[in-house]
Amino acid sequence: MASVRRNPEISEVDPQGLDDSQREAMFFIADISGYTKFIFSNEKEISHSQMVIRELITTLLEKIVEPLQIIRIEGDAIFFFVFKDDPKTPWDALSEQITLKLELFFKVFAHKMAELNLHKVCHCTACINIENLKLKVVVHSGPAAFYRVNDYQELTGTSPIVIHRLLKNSLNSDEYLMFTEPAYNDLTLSDKKVEEGVESYDDIGDINTFVYYPDPPEPYVHLSNSKPPAIFLETLRAEVSKEYAQVATNPELGFHFHTGRRLTELLGYKDEWLEDLPERVIESFAGTGNPFDPGELNPGENVVDAGCGAGLDCLISSRMVGEGGQVIGVDMTDEMVEKATINSATMKSENVSIREGVLEELPVEDEWADVVISNGAINLAPQKEAVFREFYRVVKPGGRVHLSDILVDRPIPDAAKRNIELWTG
Ligand SMILES: C[S@@+](CC[C@H](N)C(=O)[O-])C[C@H]1O[C@@H](n2cnc3c(N)ncnc32)[C@H](O)[C@@H]1O
Repeated sequence: MASVRRNPEISEVDPQGLDDSQREAMFFIADISGYTKFIFSNEKEISHSQMVIRELITTLLEKIVEPLQIIRIEGDAIFFFVFKDDPKTPWDALSEQITLKLELFFKVFAHKMAELNLHKVCHCTACINIENLKLKVVVHSGPAAFYRVNDYQELTGTSPIVIHRLLKNSLNSDEYLMFTEPAYNDLTLSDKKVEEGVESYDDIGDINTFVYYPDPPEPYVHLSNSKPPAIFLETLRAEVSKEYAQVATNPELGFHFHTGRRLTELLGYKDEWLEDLPERVIESFAGTGNPFDPGELNPGENVVDAGCGAGLDCLISSRMVGEGGQVIGVDMTDEMVEKATINSATMKSENVSIREGVLEELPVEDEWADVVISNGAINLAPQKEAVFREFYRVVKPGGRVHLSDILVDRPIPDAAKRNIELWTG
């Protein structure tokens, strides 16, 4: 028995109230295989394998639209169906669409795989083995009883059993489209080269099958403005955070950039801004410029420090805006957030609050800030447009943005953008 996401359309589709009885449907399972033979030994590998599967599943889900209906996600697979007896969508018209849709699944899957491979920046077992992931789709037509229990559609009958059994079969391939005979007869596949076969099961007997092996995908064309996959962002952020966790916890170590008091001198921070600040507040400073160069902040202003690190600029801002103003520092590195929080507590800066978050989704309400400052963080964020959109969202109309960061006056090649060493080194 399977739970089906409630579809408010079903009653309309079936005005005679046949909702609780057998209906003719075509069932599909799109199954991603290839990871099962790997044992992931650490949390990173487990989380990356889940993330990769999630990206691939999401890509397929986007293509499963009405009249296709999702029954549920079953781990690495999606179980879905379409009614064959729906008077609103005559089967003849639908069958052609479905054939095209099945081919589309393989295309979008291949495209996403190529994108994931291209953006691969991690060397864990899950990431190295992305290319072993394959898509198989099994299709069966038959009756099933659809009925409702509370808010859920339920589904029962032999068809759901048959289609699940077919996932375990005698084929020596991980990438194929397998139809049972009723499904094959329902679709327009005459131009496709299929292999006929039989699968035998102890409990349900022999099932005639028709197997189609999709053509190799067309070469992948990468659009440089396309959003990088989530796994790329997560890996990049993890690597950047690893580096800045060291700056927070072991500031005395040498880095490939200047830090601490020496850096404040190089960047022209005024002595009066640093007066009475304990060394602990200054030692992890890692800015790339001076965000107070365009002008000091005014008493009473609200300030967001995006990528605040250990909070030196937050504390300087806190003094400038005084009791009537407020400062929110945002950083994604736990150790920096912790250090900035301790630093503002040490300085009894009650108008400073430090929040964990990313520049691309600032944990700050709309139009809260008179000024957004940011020092050396934007260059570390790959989705720069999203960052600037966030600055625009949180700053009041007529507000200001004071940025100091690294500027490059030439386009950066895509290959360099995907080189994690260049982001952190
Ligand atoms: C070069 S340090 C500068 C820190 C601080 N502004 C300063 O001047 O000391 C960059 C900081 O940005 C943070 N960071 C980098 N990318 C980020 C992102 N996408 N979202 C939030 N913080 C980020 C890092 O964790 C790090 O603390």
